[in-house]
Amino acid sequence: MSFQIKNFEEYQDAYKRSVDNPEQFWGEIADNFFWKRKWNNVLNWNFTEPNIKWFDGGKLNITENCLDRHIYKNGDTPAIIWEPNDPSEAHRILTYKQLLAKVEQFANVLKNNNVKKGDRVCIYLPMVPELVIAVLACARIGAIHSVVFGGFSAQSIADRINDAECKLVITSDGGFRGTKVLELKSIVDDALMQCQSVEKVIVLTRTRTPISMIKGRDVWWEDEIKKVETQGNPACPAEEMDSEDTLFILYTSGSTGKPKGVVHTTAGYMVYTGYTFANTFQYKPGEVYFCTADIGWITGHSYIVYGPLSQGATSLMFEGIPTFPDAGRYWDIVDKYKVNIIYTAPTAIRSLMAFGDSYVDNKDLSSLRVLGSVGEPINEEAWNWYNEKIGKGKCPIADTWWQTENGGHLITPIAGVTPQVPGYAMLPLPGVQPCLMDENGNEIEGNDVSGNLCIKFPWPGMLRTTWGDHERCRQTYFATYKDMYFTGDGCYRSPEGYYRITGRVDDVLNVSGHRIGTAEVENAINMHADVVESAIVGYPHPVKGQGIYAYVIANHHIDAEKTRQDILQTVTRLIGAIAKPDIIQFVTDLPKTRSGKIMRRILRKVAEGELSSLGDTSTLQDPTVVEAIIEGSKEFK
Ligand code: PRX
Repeated sequence: MSFQIKNFEEYQDAYKRSVDNPEQFWGEIADNFFWKRKWNNVLNWNFTEPNIKWFDGGKLNITENCLDRHIYKNGDTPAIIWEPNDPSEAHRILTYKQLLAKVEQFANVLKNNNVKKGDRVCIYLPMVPELVIAVLACARIGAIHSVVFGGFSAQSIADRINDAECKLVITSDGGFRGTKVLELKSIVDDALMQCQSVEKVIVLTRTRTPISMIKGRDVWWEDEIKKVETQGNPACPAEEMDSEDTLFILYTSGSTGKPKGVVHTTAGYMVYTGYTFANTFQYKPGEVYFCTADIGWITGHSYIVYGPLSQGATSLMFEGIPTFPDAGRYWDIVDKYKVNIIYTAPTAIRSLMAFGDSYVDNKDLSSLRVLGSVGEPINEEAWNWYNEKIGKGKCPIADTWWQTENGGHLITPIAGVTPQVPGYAMLPLPGVQPCLMDENGNEIEGNDVSGNLCIKFPWPGMLRTTWGDHERCRQTYFATYKDMYFTGDGCYRSPEGYYRITGRVDDVLNVSGHRIGTAEVENAINMHADVVESAIVGYPHPVKGQGIYAYVIANHHIDAEKTRQDILQTVTRLIGAIAKPDIIQFVTDLPKTRSGKIMRRILRKVAEGELSSLGDTSTLQDPTVVEAIIEGSKEFK
């Protein structure tokens, strides 16, 4: 990995080069990948439309970079180690050679089912190796994957399928998560009642849950593989893709409307995830790397599949949950496979911390060399526990700040190479030019300052558009500040110039590291027949980071407890269990300005229990509403 930065001087040098001459910098890094045809221009861009092109004119296939190019030297290196939900079930290892064979085989299955370059494929699978195979098989033939996290509801799947007009769905009969069985196929069946574009559903056997198969539409994964086997030639040459061809769509929530399909393209995403994986974690050949995320989120796309595989790493994926069969499961896995690098989320750390040290103390964690954190700010207590109990004080911690839209890490310590401070994402990676902006659109220079975090210059892994709605992409990310990508996060820059992310500055919540749009949850709650209006805010939650607090105006004469349960069910049905409010407070009115806008600031303060700092309430239509809300909130304190 010739582009690995080895010490702080090299970091400073790389950073300077990346700013002084970004094209040369990224061109040299891209030379470390396999191209069928080299690019004409490293970068063309403007942030006004926006129009961003990296490595334009280049031809490649990302799967050749993730698979074929490793075969000659490292074909027998494990690419994927899979740990099942139930520790008594056998684990699986797929070497690079085996993974390539399986990807080619399944790519042929897709072709047999009429999937062509540019077609969209929805993948709704549990965390099994076939999920990686399905993702890479799409990329092999140039189909665009849209992976939907297994916790999302039928309605959410239908919305995503319809938005991207997916032609095919890949799912399984069910999925194991702890003691639960998720009925994935039956959820897909419900979703497809609303989807016209889907022609075929490929169903993998995992749980042997009884399901119905619809004639002409549904086929079994295993049967399709057999067909390919009898067809003779198992190979599937990689489709030649343009650098800027779409690789995948991944939906993410924002402050308004339905989730949007973030579009990542082929070459820039590949270069950026490979570069950041190798650098942030300082991966060394032969090491076992364990990212605990689900492939349904960007972390799984970039740092279970594409980043590690493009670097020939061994990527461990885990089907289950951190608390099954007990709260020592992650550490059992570290011990069992001698994991060298673990990458997890603060919410998992906090929840495991709460179970006590007895689940850690008897495990051999001596193989660990680097720890990673992602998804939300990590509080100091969790950072210290991670550092002392898991890393035994000897493993650097990379607190990686980035977003679905970014493709890969933007601000993070490089493990053991650049400095670290608990709670800080620290310094930008080479190629990343962060800045802080004030309310009036001016850049805040200097240190020991806070502002809205923006990025001034493109990096190869950034989103290119939002599927089917470029204007929404422009509005959301490029319209707030001229010629800047706006992250939606607030940030503090310390006297030393270190960055600390302080959380979202928009109406987006971060619940257990998952992004949840308040408008989305409100719309779901408002679907309930007894609900007149609702407002959602976040509040500090000891494990989830943020909890969801719902203020609901309901019809008269409701049975409060029953309606609460009904509302929770409605949210689960329309979005998924991850969006369920932790607290539902019924109110008779919401605090509104004279123009009818809900004053969320006040609701947030009440939810946080910060009653002494409610601020000015004199502009409200009816200031007495606030007193009633405060009174009602006492029930939940
Ligand atoms: O608020 C930031 C927070 O998560 C948001 C991005 O969410 P998502 O697109 O779902 O991606 C999560 C995984 C990359 C950001 O806007 N966030 C993510 N990582 C951190 C973070 N906040 C603080 N520190 C982090 N390390």
